[in-house]
Amino acid sequence: MPSFDIVTTASRPDLHVQFETAFRGSWPEFIFHDAIAHQFTLAVQETFARYDVTVVQGEHVVAGGWGIVLAWDGTTQHLPGGYDDALMRAFSSLEAGAPNTLSVMAAAVHPEYRSQGLSSLVLEELKRRALDDGISFVIAPVRPTLKCRYPLTPMSDFAQWRRADGQHIDPWIRLHERLGAVILQPANASMVITGSVAEWESWTGMLFPQSGPHVVPDALDLVVIDRENDHGVYIEPNLWMRHV
Ligand SMILES: CC(C)(COP(=O)(O)OP(=O)(O)OC[C@H]1O[C@@H](n2cnc3c(N)ncnc32)[C@H](O)[C@@H]1OP(=O)(O)O)[C@@H](O)C(=O)NCCC(=O)NCCS
Repeated sequence: MPSFDIVTTASRPDLHVQFETAFRGSWPEFIFHDAIAHQFTLAVQETFARYDVTVVQGEHVVAGGWGIVLAWDGTTQHLPGGYDDALMRAFSSLEAGAPNTLSVMAAAVHPEYRSQGLSSLVLEELKRRALDDGISFVIAPVRPTLKCRYPLTPMSDFAQWRRADGQHIDPWIRLHERLGAVILQPANASMVITGSVAEWESWTGMLFPQSGPHVVPDALDLVVIDRENDHGVYIEPNLWMRHV
């Protein structure tokens, strides 16, 4: 079994280019155009560096993941609305001085290193760091990897789809469950991504000659194009899960 080291991403700026090359293609381009996420990127890197980890094998970047800490009272009623809201809450919680919850925001494994359990290593490391820091809860607005095949299905239905063996049909939800996580509730407006028609065409490699909802590769829901107002919007649903 090859050995892996886990470092904070901030401690290894020399790996940055390799990191970008390895992971940028792990998500659809439009995901990188969420205005709220964009607004907080630098602040997150500075404030939550301890929860931004990279897994290396020798000098090769093989996996990574990051999270933020925020205040939550443990009830589904008071969960953040989703990914964007978690980012906003993390910074308002800091001001209030009461963060008690790690929200794992993303994880990725280099395509050549998948199916070796490396995402579990990342999730367990983030969880371990949180528990060491006295954090009470660990949650995640999970982006199910198979949901893009069912963009017409509400997340509330998809969340319940199980195989005959009882395991979830989605590999990423399944992996979280295998690590002990439970499904809390859908985050129906987790991320909101807006752009002009030309921007959506460049992000997706598609043409949108007509207004209306469109199926877009790797989107978990429909992208709604409004040509008259030169506007397109995508509201990404995620699924809140709780590890601790
Ligand atoms: C999701 C991801 C992190 C899984 O990482 P991983 O370490 O390869 O996961 P594992 O090896 O532990 O595999 C977990 C399950 O997913 C399956 N799996 C792994 N990679 C897969 C892929 N590319 N496509 C479909 N299934 C995949 C495995 O077969 C396994 O299924 P099982 O439950 O039947 O055993 C990885 O595929 C990835 O980086 N995807 C792109 C980024 C992403 O979508 N991240 C999650 C949302 S933030």
